[in-house]
Amino acid sequence: MCGIIGYTGTANAIPKMMKGLSVLEYRGYDSVGIAAEQGSQTKIMKCKGRISVLEEKLRETPFEISHCAIGHTRWATHGGPSDKNAHPHRVGAVTLVHNGIIENDKSLRAALSEKGVSFHSETDTEVAAALINDFFAQSGDPVASIRAAMEEMKGSFAFAILFEGHTGEVFAARRGSPLILARGTDGYYLASDMTALLPFTKEYCALKENQIARLRHGDAKIMLEDSSKVDPEWNMTTMTPESAQKGGYSHFMLKEIHEQSGAAVKSVSPRIDANGLPDFSADGIEKDFWKDIQSMQIVACGSAMHAGLVGQRLIEDLAKIPVNVSIASEFRYHPPIMPKGSLVVLISQSGETADTLAALRYAKENGIPTLAIVNAVETTIAREADRRIYTYAGPEIAVATTKGYCTQATVLWLIAAAIALATNRIDNAQTHSITRALTEDVPAAIENMLTLENQYHRIARGLINHEHVFYIGRGMDYALSMEASLKLKEISYIHCEAYAAGELKHGTISLIEPGTPVLAICTEKDLFEKTESNIREVRSRGAQVTLICRNDLPIPPGTADETVLLPTTSDAATVFAAMLAIQYIAYETALLLGCDIDRPRNLAKSVTVE
Ligand code: F6R
Repeated sequence: MCGIIGYTGTANAIPKMMKGLSVLEYRGYDSVGIAAEQGSQTKIMKCKGRISVLEEKLRETPFEISHCAIGHTRWATHGGPSDKNAHPHRVGAVTLVHNGIIENDKSLRAALSEKGVSFHSETDTEVAAALINDFFAQSGDPVASIRAAMEEMKGSFAFAILFEGHTGEVFAARRGSPLILARGTDGYYLASDMTALLPFTKEYCALKENQIARLRHGDAKIMLEDSSKVDPEWNMTTMTPESAQKGGYSHFMLKEIHEQSGAAVKSVSPRIDANGLPDFSADGIEKDFWKDIQSMQIVACGSAMHAGLVGQRLIEDLAKIPVNVSIASEFRYHPPIMPKGSLVVLISQSGETADTLAALRYAKENGIPTLAIVNAVETTIAREADRRIYTYAGPEIAVATTKGYCTQATVLWLIAAAIALATNRIDNAQTHSITRALTEDVPAAIENMLTLENQYHRIARGLINHEHVFYIGRGMDYALSMEASLKLKEISYIHCEAYAAGELKHGTISLIEPGTPVLAICTEKDLFEKTESNIREVRSRGAQVTLICRNDLPIPPGTADETVLLPTTSDAATVFAAMLAIQYIAYETALLLGCDIDRPRNLAKSVTVE
């Protein structure tokens, strides 16, 4: 949802901007731009389109060496993708890039227009630049003018700002949107996400809410709300530059699909003690914490919400406590009744999703304990929640999540076991068999499913000429179907619906006609008979059926055109194997259709607007 970057130091800033933006492109890719100091002037180059378009422009009209620059890659909100709406925006002495949304931009625009400011774009960002410039014209003080503008702006923002007359200085400010500062041997950096800075340095500091930073060669300072100045507290990231590269795979999504067995183990093994029992003490969560939870409210968006649905089934089945799952964007409008003993669990790969963050803040304002399951370290949701569990999947670059979702589900499985054990629903031996399944059977099952590439390709061939596809399943498989359907539509643009297998006949079955692809998932032995009869219903209406099911079921001949068999070493192995299959089928389908798999149209990886 827009990526920003900045640098000041001894090296040439231009290649750094381009390299960093190429990593940040996953956050938005409809337009791109940079602003760089060229002597005492600031020169802007920006355009609609991807970074390659800007690269071409730079080849035609190169910038001179610059030691101070900012850059932006955009996911349009205010004003469509166009050259004029692309960032950076300049008003007077202020040139800035922005990630977020200024909610009161209309009233600010009107007030500034009355003062004689004329605007050249439809963006809220240009309004922010004009507002800061207005204060700067009065005070001549960059920090004071940013602070004054922050007091007037509603909404979310992370800014990187250059001020005329302040050569070699980059200013930054944030509220609601992420911003990381970093220190290298050749200068200081800022970016929306540390992955963009990994080629340059590993030392970082996350800017906190309402803080302003000033970076200049040899000096970085953070200005707190009370106007005091502090030095950043630098940390070392464990991420490597390679972790944010494709590593020989044709797409990040494929790489991330392949990384899932390792990621699944990384997410659970540090949380299993010597006796094979869940132990979250390194996350600051003691065993007694699980005992007192009487109900759970899971809040998340998209695939993270689908992982929550998997978790709901596990926690209710194993731990017997009620679990409700809410779409984060709906949560505040109809918050569920949360009695004493409720825990709100926020799930987010990016740790920055605006709707999930808003739900977290709502829960906190209402005094309800919160736990965040987050992948990206040091992000806002992770920081603001009362407790946090990192999923350790490593950077996820493809817009469509795979390993993020998989590791969210593994952590939820472990939480289900922890609650069930703490409340004596299961004994040590049963718990141990769950943790063994998560650390041994699951990675083995995922690796096993990776060998079925030819079959996924064949299934994908059967989907590409259809406009509509259905996934069906019961129980856990309904939750998996929802993720399967989302994965297929977001990257292949084929319309796909997920249906509870038994519900199809209550209306939607009228859409089944000869050849309509229906993919049925069956990971639960007890439900096979019923799902199989639903398959017969669609098959008798001509559907082309793919069955993704356990390998120990008595499948009557002719049930499906294609059957993907899932390992059954344990329940967990079967479920995670199904996840792999649905992701790979979506990937192969999008590949055959020639879609932009890692950057699907209209999407962005980190959704920092509501
Ligand atoms: C789909 C996908 C999205 C995200 C959703 C939440 O493949 O990636 O549906 O799951 O936008 O994002 P996070 O987990 O970052 O909060």
